[in-house]
Amino acid sequence: MNIKEFISQKAEVINEALSDYLPAKNEKPKTLSQAMRYSVLAGGKRLRPVLTLTVATELFAKQEETVLPAAVALEMVHNYSLIHDDLPCMDDDNYRRGKLTNHKVFGDAIAVLAGDALLTYAFELLTQLKGDFTAEQVVEVNRELAQGAGWQGMVGGQVADIIAQGNSVSSEELEYIHSHKTGALLKAAVRIGGILGEADAEELAALTVYAQNIGLSFQIVDDILDIVGDEEKLGKDIGSDLDQEKATFPEVYGLEESKSMAREKIATAKEALSIFGEPAQPLLALADYIVARDY
Ligand code: IPE
Ligand code: IPE
Ligand code: MG
Ligand code: MG
Ligand code: MG
Repeated sequence: MNIKEFISQKAEVINEALSDYLPAKNEKPKTLSQAMRYSVLAGGKRLRPVLTLTVATELFAKQEETVLPAAVALEMVHNYSLIHDDLPCMDDDNYRRGKLTNHKVFGDAIAVLAGDALLTYAFELLTQLKGDFTAEQVVEVNRELAQGAGWQGMVGGQVADIIAQGNSVSSEELEYIHSHKTGALLKAAVRIGGILGEADAEELAALTVYAQNIGLSFQIVDDILDIVGDEEKLGKDIGSDLDQEKATFPEVYGLEESKSMAREKIATAKEALSIFGEPAQPLLALADYIVARDY
């Protein structure tokens, strides 16, 4: 299958939904609406919502439109994390998705608040699932997103990432950082697709192994691209990790070993999906794409 084509078809649906759900550009307060739209609609691979939709529609035959509020919520949380990640008090980056970072355009205060607004709005959007799913499913999805995004997940990882700056870290700590700052939200994206698809315990466990491995691999590749990537393609400055003395896989293991670790994790992720048979094809292709990507 042509995975790029598959992703771009799903991304088109997601982009339309994002634009519809975001406040209109003239909605009061205009600056906030514009700041939210600026970052969310700047592009991006839409990997998290693509994963949610793909799990729910391909493995569990759910209707795409019923799952969309959850997919959109994941992308909103991801975008909040990017806006905050780029702030001067965090990674201090100037470019994101080929455009100036949010705070460079709107200032630090609005960037913080635009992130806050995206995070909270995501949870409001989850309530829209209630027409098509049971109250239990909606509660589970809520818990999953909160844990993936919060102190047990992304925020916890971001804190560990900042504390590790300038220090040498153990391989365990490095794995903690990456599996939390990036892996946790990807895991939530995959599991939410499973929860909405009424996955049983065995299926959810398999999806979790898949998600944890693609999540870690995704951040290893992000670290590698920060060294060898093409700025134009990536849409963000390379060398940021070195400047900031970040704990990265290439720093700890070297480039070649990092690449082979990323590939190994992708193989483990794919194995976990064997219980699903043929319908897992797009998820297998997505796993391959994660390690092969150059942006
Ligand atoms: C960038 O995420 C931040 C990380 C968690 C590595 P993506 O590489 O998914 O960024 P977009 O959404 O495609 O811009
Ligand atoms: C990002 O890790 C993790 C987030 C939660 C946003 P990075 O700091 O490496 O992501 P980029 O390289 O800025 O996209
Ligand atoms: Mg960072
Ligand atoms: Mg960063
Ligand atoms: Mg990075």
